[in-house]
Amino acid sequence: MIDKATVQKITDAADIVEVVSDYVHLIKRGRNYVGLCPFHNEKTPSFSVNSVRNFCYCFSCKKGGSPVNFIMEKEGLSYHDALLHLASKYNIKVEEKELTEDERRQLNEREALLLANEWAAQKMEKALRDTEEGRSIGLQYLYQRGVTDEAIKKFRLGYNLDSGHSLAEAAKLEGMDMKSLADVGVLGQSQKMPGSYYDRFRGRVIFPVLNPSGKVVALGGRDLKGSMAKYINSPESSVYKKSNELYGIFQAKSEIAKQDNCFLVEGYMDVIGMWQSGMENVVASSGTALTDGQIAMIHRFTNNITLIYDGDAAGIKASLRGIDMLLAHKMNVKVLLLPDGHDPDSFARENTPEKFREYVERHSTDIIRFKAQVLLKDVGDDPQKRAAAIESVVSSLAHIPDKVKRIVYIQECSRILGVREEVIEAAVEKSRGEVVDRQRRQRHENEIERLNENESNPQPDLTKQLRPSKGGQLAEMYPYYPFERNVVYHCVRYGILDFCDVEYEDGTSETINVAEFVAEEIQEDKIWFTFPAFAKTFNRILDLKEDFSNENVAFNEALENERKMMMKEGYDDIASKDLSMEEIRRAERLLEDRVNEELEKRRFEFARYYVEQKLSSHHDDDVRRTVNEAINEEQPLSNIYIRNNPVSERKMEIDRMRVLVPRGVLEWKNEMLNQMIRAKMQQLNSIIGHSSPEEEQKILMETQALMEKRGHLGKVMGDRTIGKKIK
Ligand code: GTP
Ligand code: MN
Repeated sequence: MIDKATVQKITDAADIVEVVSDYVHLIKRGRNYVGLCPFHNEKTPSFSVNSVRNFCYCFSCKKGGSPVNFIMEKEGLSYHDALLHLASKYNIKVEEKELTEDERRQLNEREALLLANEWAAQKMEKALRDTEEGRSIGLQYLYQRGVTDEAIKKFRLGYNLDSGHSLAEAAKLEGMDMKSLADVGVLGQSQKMPGSYYDRFRGRVIFPVLNPSGKVVALGGRDLKGSMAKYINSPESSVYKKSNELYGIFQAKSEIAKQDNCFLVEGYMDVIGMWQSGMENVVASSGTALTDGQIAMIHRFTNNITLIYDGDAAGIKASLRGIDMLLAHKMNVKVLLLPDGHDPDSFARENTPEKFREYVERHSTDIIRFKAQVLLKDVGDDPQKRAAAIESVVSSLAHIPDKVKRIVYIQECSRILGVREEVIEAAVEKSRGEVVDRQRRQRHENEIERLNENESNPQPDLTKQLRPSKGGQLAEMYPYYPFERNVVYHCVRYGILDFCDVEYEDGTSETINVAEFVAEEIQEDKIWFTFPAFAKTFNRILDLKEDFSNENVAFNEALENERKMMMKEGYDDIASKDLSMEEIRRAERLLEDRVNEELEKRRFEFARYYVEQKLSSHHDDDVRRTVNEAINEEQPLSNIYIRNNPVSERKMEIDRMRVLVPRGVLEWKNEMLNQMIRAKMQQLNSIIGHSSPEEEQKILMETQALMEKRGHLGKVMGDRTIGKKIK
């Protein structure tokens, strides 16, 4: 942990213009600077840097933020590592906070393992180039497979000499920690002679696996002599969870963000083949099906993924395997099949980079369309097979969280499969219900797990007791949990949007946002979020108001410019046509409406997604998890809206917010009153006959008062939310 004072020192020192200038050529424009956005491809600059507010922002892709945010995004680093990165840029000595014995041990172990991996990777890189055997066997093999020197350097490829103990000896000589080297699987321990070590990767070409910050977390070694195991890999350790890493992510991440797409291939050599063909936004899952963790990693850089497989039967089958999970993550998934018998590596060797890229562009298909077509091909006249195919497509469709997107696909699949739209839709919606239920259960399990992990839990013993009867205990500790969750989720979605005007007694007034409205409402009844993760998240959302209003100024300035441009284009267009005065006037009115609507929409979206944008990769696990779960939760959407589309998406969202937020607060308060009333009644029951009539009367009155309050709750809330709120 970095202590607070040092964090402050770093953020004070980090100058946004200097930090961004390491990556972007900036041009001064008035008080600001502009440049080409480093997060996406563009020809005209929309990336703006405000030196006064120490803040940057891309008006097109909406990425940016403080210097720390910028480094996190650009380098794909955690908050902690981004601070370290800036500290070293500004020569600030970092004093890490006192750790507990246990934390220190864990940290030391991690560091020792990373050090062991890095040491081994460097030794192997050297051996590939600087030894006779490395050159004649390892390098020779790579060249023969068409790997260039540039790629060897970029991917830090290496070679482990075949003697069986070259690394082990070097390690001993250099006083390396032998145990760490054995723990990461670079060395093995001899069974016969305990305490003696041998090289596990002997005679193999080495592919180091780097995490997003560029640390070597594992090694893969390819056999060159026809042994049984073509590849051996590092075992799992505290620095390597196979299912959470992607080969090539460090080399690919900035290109993935820039191209806003990620290619997913199967193997080490495929990554290198694609990279050499100029498609640098590529990672490999190393032969296994994608996991949640890997998808989340890709998601940090893009929403778009293209799966690349061999066009043979096995490849087709593999391509259909992980798609439901990808769809559930709101990824846009495409698939590309290479000609039968090819993997990207072999295809790259037989085709020029231009040919390869052209092939990719031409043959990428949307995954759902692809699935429907593939399954249909197998069906023939068999009605049973046909039903199974439809069911399988329906199941995939049911995993798409976005209803509008689902409907578009339903129409298309109906055409491909030759089944009526209504039939597919009914099946999808039914299955969707099941999927949502399953996800809800999963979330609930995550919540309990999180509760168990929660370090800030004041009574650590309770966490142990929680395990046997999970749900029950949760309900006891946090009786308002579901209500708090509901409200905090609404705040993630709508928190920064304007909710209502408040007039104060002195005649001044102010507009408060959704989160502030919630805060005032619950404070009034002396409630607050009790579940730690929700309290934290809610506070962060409240904190965002100031940042938002600052950024909003710059955003509106840019929008104003855009308005001028759009109007000018529109006027030019009208002027170029041969129109009567009457027609001109009408065209101008239409133009104005259209531009206003467009800008209104952009303004709304900026606010609507602000919380998500700021907090969905927040460094605090609780905040990040809460925000992402809120984003991913299924949102009910009325059919009327979609079918007839009488209002814009924006209008619909605002309507929904106006209904859902007060209702959520109301339900929460209502539940609180219910529980208080229940407690009073119990009290009453227990004292009846043992106590004075006055005492009974008093409690009865209190109960009565609570019930009345409950009765009025709805009306009071209704009054408050109609436009104005008077204090
Ligand atoms: P080349 O045969 O050198 O072209 O390797 P490749 O990367 O094309 O391998 P392949 O397509 O056969 O397999 C894809 C990926 O699966 C590899 O990159 C490895 O990560 C993994 N893999 C393949 N064979 C083995 C194996 O024998 N053991 C392990 N642990 N992984 C393997
Ligand atoms: Mn291959």
